[in-house]
This record gives sequence, structure tokens and C-alpha cells, in this order.
Amino acid sequence: AELPAGEKIFNNNCASCHIGGGNILITEKTLKKEALLKYLEDYDTNSIQAIIHQVQYGKNAMPAFKDKLSTEEILEVAAYIFQKAEQDWS
Ligand code: HEM
Repeated sequence: AELPAGEKIFNNNCASCHIGGGNILITEKTLKKEALLKYLEDYDTNSIQAIIHQVQYGKNAMPAFKDKLSTEEILEVAAYIFQKAEQDWS
């Protein structure tokens, strides 16, 4: 079967640095729930929106995706990350 849209977008644009929900550049800043709560501003109150913001604008060594992915694609990948974090990337 085909992969869900968010998973394909993740594999094509994010997995190079975030394979398995990790972070190859800053190893503690993973996409796991504990790290998102600790490092990503507003994740506790508005999780999907907090991910969308980081993907749109980037941060430090992470590139911005607002000129590379559509609004819909960014929403799809943010929802995918939220879901995977809730499942501990299992
Ligand atoms: C951090 C998502 C692509 C490098 C993060 C965080 C999220 C995220 C949600 C916050 C994690 C945390 O603070 O614990 C994504 C998504 C991507 C993507 C959805 C694809 C659309 C990339 C790529 C790179 C990268 C391609 C490497 C070239 C980083 C780095 C951080 C980070 C270095 C830490 C930034 C900092 O706080 O200094 N990413 N990422 N990301 N990402 Fe990405």
C-alpha cells in the first residue's frame, strides 16, 4: 500500500537529519515527545502549530521549508510528527 502523505514528505525532506525521529546534528533535539516539550516553544499548548512554525521558518542549522513545501504539505508532515511522537516513534 502507499505510504500516508505526511510520511512520504518526512522521508523526502526530514529523514536526512531526523531519521527515526532523532537528530543527527543536535542529538538531544529529537522529535520525541519529551524533547519537543523541552525544546520546542509552545509545544505544550499548541503542538501542531509549534511544529508548523519550526518547519516554515527553520531554526539555527535547520533550514526553512516555507518556499519548498506547500502549506498543506507542512500541515501533513506536522501532523505526522505529532502522531509519531505520541507513539514514541514505534
Ligand atoms: C529541530 C522538524 C528537516 C535539522 C527540529 C524540530 C522539529 C523539526 C519539530 C524541533 C525538535 C526539538 O527541538 O526537539 C523537521 C521537519 C523537517 C525537518 C518536519 C522536514 C520538513 C530538517 C533537516 C535538517 C534539520 C533537513 C538538517 C539539515 C534540525 C536541527 C534542529 C531541528 C539542527 C535543532 C534546531 C535548534 O534548536 O537549534 N526539526 N525538521 N531538520 N532540526 Fe528539523
